[in-house]
Amino acid sequence: MTTQQTLVLLKPDAVKRQLIGQILSRFEQKGLKIINLRWFRFTQELARQHYAEHIGKPFYSGLEEYVMSGAAVAVILEGPEAVAVVRRLIGPTNGVEASPGTIRGDFSLSNQQNLVHASDSSASAEREIKIFFPAV
Ligand code: CMP
Repeated sequence: MTTQQTLVLLKPDAVKRQLIGQILSRFEQKGLKIINLRWFRFTQELARQHYAEHIGKPFYSGLEEYVMSGAAVAVILEGPEAVAVVRRLIGPTNGVEASPGTIRGDFSLSNQQNLVHASDSSASAEREIKIFFPAV
């Protein structure tokens, strides 16, 4: 088992729906450690940097509008195989398809407004942590 760090974003729908505590407690209950956490707000530039791989896709302009619509929270989590563990805890992108027990399965019915983002590989985690926590 490799100890890893991964980046999680609680997107504006999670903040507006007052789900920050419930979502973070899922990660803590699992045994993952919160290593760092901060409020931020997506600018267009930050959205383009973070979601570079999605620019040009049909859903991109809606995604940009959604993530810029309010405050968000960036979190670094650490634990054994944290990247895969967190991805399983949040469930697949579409809340309609996500299984009960996952964060998206329990709280989202949307493909876009799916509350959380989590790094999909250790390389992505390294890249994304540098974007949101440049001093770490
Ligand atoms: P996230 O895990 O942050 O990564 C990319 C985001 O784009 C995703 O969560 C959703 O918010 C959004 N997204 C991905 N696919 C679609 C889609 N088909 N339609 C609308 N939004 C999407």
